[in-house]
Amino acid sequence: MEEELQFCEKVPKIELHAHLNGSISLEKLKLLNDNDVPTLPQYEITSSTPLKQCFEVFKIAHTIVNNPLKVYEATLSVIEDFYKDNVIYLELRSTPRMIPDIMTKDVYIESVIKAIQTASLTFPKILVKFLISVNRAHGIENATENILSAIKYHEMYPEYVVGLDLSGDPSEGEAFLHLLERARNAGLKIAAHCAEVPNNDEVEDILNFKPDRLGHCTHIHPDLNGSNELFEQLLTSKIPIELCITSNIKCQTVSDYSKHQFNYFYKANHPICIATDDKSVFNTTLSKEFQIIKTHFKLSSKELIKLSLAAVDYSFATNNEKEKLRQIIKNFTYLE
Ligand code: IMP
Ligand code: ZN
Repeated sequence: MEEELQFCEKVPKIELHAHLNGSISLEKLKLLNDNDVPTLPQYEITSSTPLKQCFEVFKIAHTIVNNPLKVYEATLSVIEDFYKDNVIYLELRSTPRMIPDIMTKDVYIESVIKAIQTASLTFPKILVKFLISVNRAHGIENATENILSAIKYHEMYPEYVVGLDLSGDPSEGEAFLHLLERARNAGLKIAAHCAEVPNNDEVEDILNFKPDRLGHCTHIHPDLNGSNELFEQLLTSKIPIELCITSNIKCQTVSDYSKHQFNYFYKANHPICIATDDKSVFNTTLSKEFQIIKTHFKLSSKELIKLSLAAVDYSFATNNEKEKLRQIIKNFTYLE
């Protein structure tokens, strides 16, 4: 077990689904917590927790990370964590937050970008990109604002701001697909959370929209409250799926590993990548997620590395950057 984790730690990895505020380590949050948020001990989800309750946990990080300097510091520490876990490419996603008299959404975005710039000097072995999130539960005005900001900052910093993420409590709000279309037309890539809860009508709309990547895709196979038609539509689309195993198990969107959608998509040879979602909230790392894949789905070391290599193709990096990342993974040597 320990040996497997050590191997997974050494593999150069690609992280494509990480929410900034769910990824800040507990240690860093404690350092940043000068307001003495009393709920900190309950921060980490340690056993099965209903999905709805998971969304309450993010509010703790939001209360603590409450000014531009803390956004900068939190971002830098998350990048450092991934770098130490041998992640060579990271797409961080975050929802711009406004705090009256303290921080505008633009300042929030700029603080994240500044941290990515600093990280490119301090931790040059990890390449970091930024996806701006739209929270589906926060209404159309907020969604429009975030999408316009994403377009603006993509134009200003095309090397960092590369995409848009649709996230938030899946039992609330809507997918704002007509707005996502605007972002796509402006050159942003789209990563959309999809089917975290059963909602076949919305899944069909999202699949018809054809985002560049999809998150989770739990309730699509007929065995998981989806349908044959949706599953077939998704396979035909070949849209890569970001799978976050621990997140799904801890939030109870699937009951156990044997029922996880990984089984269906891997067998069908559908493009997938492995991700952490919220590494701090779910007490995981990308290496631990790789180890889970090895242990519970019986993948060999070679197959794990193949997953890592394939994830490069699904990333929003430039072709040049992708080629460099592929070389690093191909040069990784190990004993069978
Ligand atoms: P932030 O966007 O950096 O503040 O990261 C936390 C936010 O990410 C949460 O408030 C949610 O909107 C979103 N998020 C994190 N995990 C999930 C998930 O599993 N499904 C949908 N949204 C999520
Ligand atoms: Zn997510």
